Amino acid sequence: MCGIVGYVGTENAVDIIISSLKKLEYRGYDSAGITVLNQKLETYKTVGKIADLEKIIPANFTGHIGIGHTRWATHGKPETRNAHPHLSSNIAVVHNGIIENYMKLKEKLISQGYEFLSDTDTEVIAHLLHSTIKNNTQFSLLDAVRHVMNEMEGSYAIAVLYTAEPDHIVLARKDSPLVIGLGNNGFFAASDVTAFLRYTKNAVYVNDKELVLISPTGVEFYNNDGQQIEKKVDIIEWDEEAAEKAGYEHFMLKEIHEQPASIQDTYAGKISELEGRVILDELKMSDDQLKNLQRITIIACGTSWNAGCVGKYLFESLAGIHTDIETASEFRYGDPVLCGQVFTLAITQSGETADTLAAIRSSKAYGCKAAAITNVVGSSITRETDSVLFTRAGPEIGVAATKTFTAQLIILYLMAIHMGTVRGRLTPENARDILVGIKQLPGQVQKVLNNKNIIKECAEHYAKVQDYFFIGRHVNYPVSLEGALKLKEISYIHAEGYAAGELKHGPLALISSETPVVAIATKGHTYEKVLSNIKEVKARGAEVIAIANQSDTEINKYVDMVLRIPDCHELLSPVLSSVVLQLLAYYTAYARGCSIDKPRNLAKSVTVE
Ligand code: F6R
Repeated sequence: MCGIVGYVGTENAVDIIISSLKKLEYRGYDSAGITVLNQKLETYKTVGKIADLEKIIPANFTGHIGIGHTRWATHGKPETRNAHPHLSSNIAVVHNGIIENYMKLKEKLISQGYEFLSDTDTEVIAHLLHSTIKNNTQFSLLDAVRHVMNEMEGSYAIAVLYTAEPDHIVLARKDSPLVIGLGNNGFFAASDVTAFLRYTKNAVYVNDKELVLISPTGVEFYNNDGQQIEKKVDIIEWDEEAAEKAGYEHFMLKEIHEQPASIQDTYAGKISELEGRVILDELKMSDDQLKNLQRITIIACGTSWNAGCVGKYLFESLAGIHTDIETASEFRYGDPVLCGQVFTLAITQSGETADTLAAIRSSKAYGCKAAAITNVVGSSITRETDSVLFTRAGPEIGVAATKTFTAQLIILYLMAIHMGTVRGRLTPENARDILVGIKQLPGQVQKVLNNKNIIKECAEHYAKVQDYFFIGRHVNYPVSLEGALKLKEISYIHAEGYAAGELKHGPLALISSETPVVAIATKGHTYEKVLSNIKEVKARGAEVIAIANQSDTEINKYVDMVLRIPDCHELLSPVLSSVVLQLLAYYTAYARGCSIDKPRNLAKSVTVE
């Protein structure tokens, strides 16, 4: 997730772009840049926040037309050369999204003599536009952007400046947000209305495959066939603070709602459904190394540990590899039995958790190959491991991890399927089944989100209880742990997650009419067993809230409330069930008046021991 802005009008474009970018820093803040067109393109870029960009901009840098960008790295580290705008001679581009076929396009452009100065997918767009105009001299910039849109696969919102057409900016979008602001003294373009709300409340939302041309005299909208179209103007009622959260009351709720997009961005370009295989070039392990792998040791903390625990089931069932899951703070002071044949996998959203970093460092002393799953390009863990697999969830501001957890699960599915196919445990047909299921997840998560009112009612009904239990089996056992963790950290209700079969070995003594039990009872090979466990707790007087599949008509007989998820492959249900549990925690905390985005005693990134 990055932020793009553009301005053309009578005001100083530099001031407007800088103030607009500051409003978009929540979308990314590892590097930033600005280009203004004053006969020629003048560009300033730097690593860091917008305040760092301001420091390198000379006082006499002004103009009336320009574009800007604040970055959250996906392709290429946060370095100045990877910061946007990217240039190809007389063209400058800023981009939010992911060009999935950029490697193929890059090779083609290199063969045409284009030189690449960055590792980004965006630089491909700049050169592609340049080569399109060079080969089609009658093309306007608008024609060229339209042409290039047909070559690019993936998601994008782009803003383009071209010195031969110095009075306008051309913009286009597909699967990444773009909105146009209509001001009295100029026109604005941005990833989000927050960027320009202080200048105007009149906005036009751009739809997929539409193009826009903004000039000092007006705005023109086009469809993908090049026909000019009329668009409706919305009057934005939000103030700036509400707009930053896209109208949601908390970042956590906004981030929960971003999951259809963050899941899709995370698997984008990695699934070949046709061949029933995963493309995982980031995992720097040869097929031979994967075939000979004896053991995986996953190292993580908190929510990332819970994701790792799902990973253990996936690696064992899909790839047939013995997998251990270790708590980083324990592992680092234990006496792990490791050897060169063990593959260690750190899972850390921030990439900065001190215990996870220390544990992975100590595992390397045994000669283990190490990889990391992280959300932050350029974070410390990326320097400690041989391979890095990025979740593409964008910055997560709410302290409770939500969208990064489900994005971690997506990477774990892809890794396990990749390993399983290479090792011959999974046939392409089996792999395809799950891959098709993964591609359905964004739409299915959206369905869960659309039904949030029933989850809210459930949360409010039980908001005053003192204790909660969460139970599940197999991949749903870690989901129960995550459900309990989410609830306790933001609502301060005591909650325990248990493997459902463990209840009778102790915790059953605590079950009573005062302790609601959330049972994750989705269809799968342990379904019947979970039903028995539900009966056990019902017999002790507990009220049971089941998370069950849409088509399950049996479950209502045994429980007090059912929260539904769409039918899906049994291994994929953790993604959908976790969204239900995130919403349950959120609405419970809300009903209890808790500080949701900043729970007491907790920090987003735990960089101390
Ligand atoms: C809970 C939560 C924490 C983190 C843990 C590890 O919602 O966010 O439990 O998961 O502190 O952090 P990372 O993933 O950054 O290593």
